Amino acid sequence: MIRSVVRGNGAALPRRIMKNADFEGMVETSDEWIVQRTGIRQRHVAADDETTASLGEAAARAALDSAGMTPADIDLIILATSTPNNTFPATAVEIQNRLGMHHGFAFDMQAVCSGFVYAVATADLYIRGGLARRVLVIGSETFSRILDWNDRSTCVLFGDGAGALVLEAQEGAGAITDRGVLAASLRSDGAHKDKLFVDGGPSTTGTVGHLRMEGREVFKHAVGMITDVIEATFGEAGITAQDLDWFVPHQANKRIIDASARKLGIAEEKVVVTVDLHGNTSAASVPLALSVAVADGRIKKGDLVLLEAMGGGFTWGAVLLRW
Ligand code: ACO
Repeated sequence: MIRSVVRGNGAALPRRIMKNADFEGMVETSDEWIVQRTGIRQRHVAADDETTASLGEAAARAALDSAGMTPADIDLIILATSTPNNTFPATAVEIQNRLGMHHGFAFDMQAVCSGFVYAVATADLYIRGGLARRVLVIGSETFSRILDWNDRSTCVLFGDGAGALVLEAQEGAGAITDRGVLAASLRSDGAHKDKLFVDGGPSTTGTVGHLRMEGREVFKHAVGMITDVIEATFGEAGITAQDLDWFVPHQANKRIIDASARKLGIAEEKVVVTVDLHGNTSAASVPLALSVAVADGRIKKGDLVLLEAMGGGFTWGAVLLRW
């Protein structure tokens, strides 16, 4: 059977780093509160010349380099983002153009923080369905543009950045030992819209709007939703937590990551944590975490890796793949 195998990965971060202490003169907060409640120590914040498209392009180029490919080899780009450069066209098409690519096709995927997990699952279906052989899957965000910088309960939590994977169709045996995407489970429930949303949009206010979140409410649902969808993925693949080499969760809050891993029985040393470095970069958080764990030699070819995310909508999901 056809498998969607990871051939390369890459990342890009804005030049400017903002430490927790940098918020202390802006809103009533402290480094101690932010670290204790979230695990975040710093985040990158985009300058005017750094956009979702430019960061996405840089991550895509890094992923192509690591795959030993050029844009000519790619036939589909899926960009997961909630902070596109324009309402339309899709920022994926802008990245396609920046890469000098005038063949194939490109589109955006909007599932907020779950966007990258949705996009990998979608790319896998395009590959297995025969519509594409090599796919660039990108998560790129500039959440700094939609934050209310006077709201201490949200502005300290998010950061900007991008990450990307190149997936390629390869023949597999149909076994759990195959490389590539092995299982995926996706969920959403719009009943929770008001707990995490942006209060503007083209069809309502005609403005971009700002992120609004009832953090405590989101927290309350997160661990149960994450563990349910992961258990469904384990069931589909016929594995248990002990079989995993690496757990690469969405990086929103260290306490959510720790509680989820504990409930699932995933050993602490198998959990990739980068929330301290990047904050919550929404759809970019999982590929950014992957890039750190690949670069430092933790994730290696043949490792069994579980990706997971939960975010606005609510949306949530998990992808199991062998690197
Ligand atoms: N500095 C200091 N105090 C603060 C800050 C801050 N930056 N922000 C809030 N507080 C205060 C609150 O006002 C509150 O004060 P009060 O008790 O006097 O009312 C107190 O701290 C506690 O607030 P809580 O909201 O209960 O704090 P909690 O421990 O729940 O932590 C947090 C808040 C970090 C937001 C947490 O709830 C969380 O991580 N939620 C989930 C976020 C998440 O996972 N989002 C999902 C994905 S994001 C996406 O999809 C875009």
